[in-house]
Amino acid sequence: MISAILYKSATGSCERYAHIMSRKLALPSYPVDACPLPKGMEVIFIGWLMNGKVQGLAKAQKNYAVKAVVPVGMSLPTGAALEAYKEKNGLDSTTPVFGVQGAFHMDRLSFPMRLIMKKVNQSIVKRLEGKGQLSDAEQATLTMAETGDGEPATWDGIDAAVEWALQQREPLNVMKWYEPQ
Ligand SMILES: Cc1cc2nc3c(=O)[nH]c(=O)nc-3n(C[C@H](O)[C@H](O)[C@H](O)COP(=O)(O)O)c2cc1C
Repeated sequence: MISAILYKSATGSCERYAHIMSRKLALPSYPVDACPLPKGMEVIFIGWLMNGKVQGLAKAQKNYAVKAVVPVGMSLPTGAALEAYKEKNGLDSTTPVFGVQGAFHMDRLSFPMRLIMKKVNQSIVKRLEGKGQLSDAEQATLTMAETGDGEPATWDGIDAAVEWALQQREPLNVMKWYEPQ
């Protein structure tokens, strides 16, 4: 039984997604670095992508049974990119992975990260400007890369993970309560 949502967030997006999931599933959420749960409990993990690595995932996996993973990136992690992220993070087909788009806030990053992202953003702008018709998520990524600040196209992308988590719940067997002992 899934007991909590754990997350690792640098600039707030994963925390926001964790709070949305927490509310919709009526489960507690904790930062992976300050989780009071006993080791071994079943959790869903939400972490931000840094160069394809889901931050905090290794720590979550070391201490808890991670039943599903939500990688959060400034680009919506789907299709071939999502498959590449799964491989890079050692996630096999037994673990459901729900990629969602997060925000990007250059001014909340450390100086070394800002330097890295200035370069990365230039190449993102080049790639997306040459692409023609953009999806809403790609348009949001382009805005983030161009301006250094932006929100995802939607925060509702987390609903697929919520639906999955709801399906994992065992249905209440009311009749069992009335069975004579
Ligand atoms: C150093 C660095 C590397 C990043 N690498 C990726 C990446 O590989 N893929 C991606 O989609 N986003 C990448 N991002 C963007 C973040 O994953 C994105 O902004 C995310 O929403 C941050 O989540 P948070 O607000 O919870 O920290 C990177 C950001 C930084 C600062």
